[in-house]
Amino acid sequence: MMKSLLVAIFVVGLSLSDIVSLSSEFRREDVTFRKKRNTERLTYFYYQQPEYPRDCKEVYDQCEDQAPGGVYLIKPEGSPQPFEVYCNNSIDGGGWTVFQRRVDGSVDFYRFWNEYKSGFGFLRGEFWLGNDKISYLTNQKRYELRIDMNNVNGEPYFAKYNLFRISDEGSKYRLVGLGDYDSSSTANNDALKNFRNQSFSTRDEDNDASDRLHVATRCHGAWWFKSNHFYSHLNGLYNAGSSYDKSIDWDGLPGQSFHIKYSEMKIRPLPDP
Ligand SMILES: *[C@@H]1O[C@H](CO)[C@@H](O)[C@H](O)[C@H]1NC(C)=O
Ligand SMILES: *[C@@H]1O[C@H](CO)[C@@H](O)[C@H](O)[C@H]1NC(C)=O
Repeated sequence: MMKSLLVAIFVVGLSLSDIVSLSSEFRREDVTFRKKRNTERLTYFYYQQPEYPRDCKEVYDQCEDQAPGGVYLIKPEGSPQPFEVYCNNSIDGGGWTVFQRRVDGSVDFYRFWNEYKSGFGFLRGEFWLGNDKISYLTNQKRYELRIDMNNVNGEPYFAKYNLFRISDEGSKYRLVGLGDYDSSSTANNDALKNFRNQSFSTRDEDNDASDRLHVATRCHGAWWFKSNHFYSHLNGLYNAGSSYDKSIDWDGLPGQSFHIKYSEMKIRPLPDP
């Protein structure tokens, strides 16, 4: 026990106060210590266990004093490696695994297929989690989708769907599962429905339904593009100015659909039927 504790201290570089609280944690919770945590760094250590939580809902259920949000290590079924995700517990009941966020335009979203495949950006800022990870996640259970958006004036709206699932890379991360637009949504329009069963496209992979156009280059992003009319596109250009085609957009969003200032896309498993 002491030896592995020392190794852990060495590996994660815990401070002295962490070490003290960590060892008292061990004494108190010997058997079920994985259930509780004090800080995110401890979480990181705790999850060096044979079993990882499979999504943020499992993280949430395993922690007693749940922080409003943070970065945690999970390992969905089928994923060869555990990876870090941002969990949002401060909205709509918590337990949400976040896979996209735009806040300030600091990260470039006009990227190639392989970058969208493995993910990019910063989990506490702007990022795309990665299509492989989103595919592992959404194929292990049935997930609902929640998208929060602030329009150009900063007013908050959301759209919710009672199912979200994408296929794997072999079938181009197709939007194979998109449920009904929840009637409690405030975003004023079901702007994803047109992409049902549509493949993902990037600047270097044209999988849209148009023979003539490569919508991803025209719209300066990556999405389940179909035709030139994009309905929604949350991976567009931040501060797109007069380039409305390239802008971050959700058709019908109250106020103005273009130049969305903030977006966060996240999933949570549906309760068992
Ligand atoms: C959770 O999501 C909401 C809506 O996107 C956001 O306003 C809030 O800051 C998020 N909370 C955390 C802790 O990230
Ligand atoms: C989805 O698209 C694939 C590939 O184009 C096709 O084979 C399949 O029949 C479609 N499924 C539905 C439900 O439309």
